[in-house]
Amino acid sequence: MNISVTSRSIVDAQSEGYIFFVPEGIKIDQNKALARLAGTVAPHLSDLCKAYSFSGSSLSTFSLPLVVGTQRAHIILVGVGSKEGSYIPVERYRRAVGKAIRIAQQYKLKTISVQVPDAQSLKLTNERLGQETVCTIAMTDYAFDEFITDKKRKAHRIDAVTLCASSAAAAGLKKGAARGKLIGKAVNTARHWVNLPANKLVPTDVAEHAKKIAAESGLTAQVFTGAQVKKMGFGGLEAVAKGSTQDCRFVVLEYVARKKTAPTIALVGKGITFDSGGLSLKPPQYMETMKEDMAGAAAVINAMGVIGKLKPKVNVVGLTPLTENLPSGTATKPGDIITFYNGKTAEVLNTDAEGRLVLADALSYAVKHYKPALVIDLATLTGAVAYALGPGYAGLLSNQNKMVDRVEKAGKSSGDLVWRLPLPDDYGHAIESPYADISNICLKNQYKPGTITAALFLSHFVDDTPWVHVDIADTAFNAPNKSYYTPGGTGVGVRLLVDLIEQW
Ligand code: BES
Ligand code: ZN
Ligand code: ZN
Repeated sequence: MNISVTSRSIVDAQSEGYIFFVPEGIKIDQNKALARLAGTVAPHLSDLCKAYSFSGSSLSTFSLPLVVGTQRAHIILVGVGSKEGSYIPVERYRRAVGKAIRIAQQYKLKTISVQVPDAQSLKLTNERLGQETVCTIAMTDYAFDEFITDKKRKAHRIDAVTLCASSAAAAGLKKGAARGKLIGKAVNTARHWVNLPANKLVPTDVAEHAKKIAAESGLTAQVFTGAQVKKMGFGGLEAVAKGSTQDCRFVVLEYVARKKTAPTIALVGKGITFDSGGLSLKPPQYMETMKEDMAGAAAVINAMGVIGKLKPKVNVVGLTPLTENLPSGTATKPGDIITFYNGKTAEVLNTDAEGRLVLADALSYAVKHYKPALVIDLATLTGAVAYALGPGYAGLLSNQNKMVDRVEKAGKSSGDLVWRLPLPDDYGHAIESPYADISNICLKNQYKPGTITAALFLSHFVDDTPWVHVDIADTAFNAPNKSYYTPGGTGVGVRLLVDLIEQW
């Protein structure tokens, strides 16, 4: 999709689609560009809006197909509602953008012009507005149709989008648009990896993709094989990988900032390309979507690609353990005791609680080798987070309030919302084991919050390092309400991590 920014009037654009965002209650002639367009091609627009009760209420739409000369010219209006306080929330704007693009797709429009709203009305800079607009358009343009051979069933793709704005706004918008394109592409790649079924994306594939991204973005890449991680003492990753014929990988991507004394942020992503549960086999229905279990790794690797290109002031390292979790004669058995990279031991009572095992090694490695100012992990870790928070918020658990503030802020501005859950030391009893340092599940009936007990397990592997754990089990796949998402992978975490690093 070609993206451009212009300060010429949208009325002069030769597009098939003309998109406008309409605040609640506004009259057509109050929007200069829209009034001019209506004056030239749709003199009855104002009456039509009235007749069809389009008043600009939040996420309402009105679309008008026209023929101008021999060309089609489709006017698309999307309501952005009333201000909340003194501005329109940016997430509402994103959803409005998504809705507008969905209409353009429905009518198979190839070229589109967008009248960009005033940045102040959204409390954004022009740069950020350009980023949000283009990132959201790119996300709405994504479809997982690679394996559909019937051309008629393939998704429509938009060829070109022109953002129209005042000449004062154009320069900022342009700069932001370039970033939005980069971030949107990374989000879509993350979604794509999540969508690819486990027979089309195995751990070695993800590692190869990561190497390619590293080469394109000026990152260094280290890829450890199954034999290497075993030798290094990654007992968690080894134990999970053992049941599969696919060799596992541990991938480390590094971005080095110009300033030598810059702090390092470590990003860790769970990368289970398929989670059957292992010998503690999942029931079929719970297994159906388990290709999504590498969403954390997909977010980390693709965010690293963006970071390499945006060159922030902090060092960033991305670490992803990648494996399948399958049952077989060589698989880890319930009751097995394993030793992690930091020397701690765990009794594996349930092989379906495998995410914490691979993360334990990766977190231990991150804190030992990078002494990071923050280690943040993203993981589709627990089904329980769906009951705690639902698909609109990822669960956040942390050992340091200052870092929570940073991640919450990045969540709000990026659209990848997080919500904190407590991490009480008290509940540590939940994962006691009579035979090893800890157990990988909680057998005590008093402790039911699975998201918290999983995070408590992870807390054994970060020492005193400031650490934030983000449980994306319910936000990574099939999340409702956001018009710019399609069923399947959401790419959650990419925007969050990029925002977090950029604001550092
Ligand atoms: N990958 C799953 C968690 C998950 C569930 C992700 C639903 C996405 C959607 C994880 O490995 C798992 O199986 N967790 C278990 C832990 C339990 C055995 C303690 C769970 O949440 O049921
Ligand atoms: Zn599992
Ligand atoms: Zn899992």
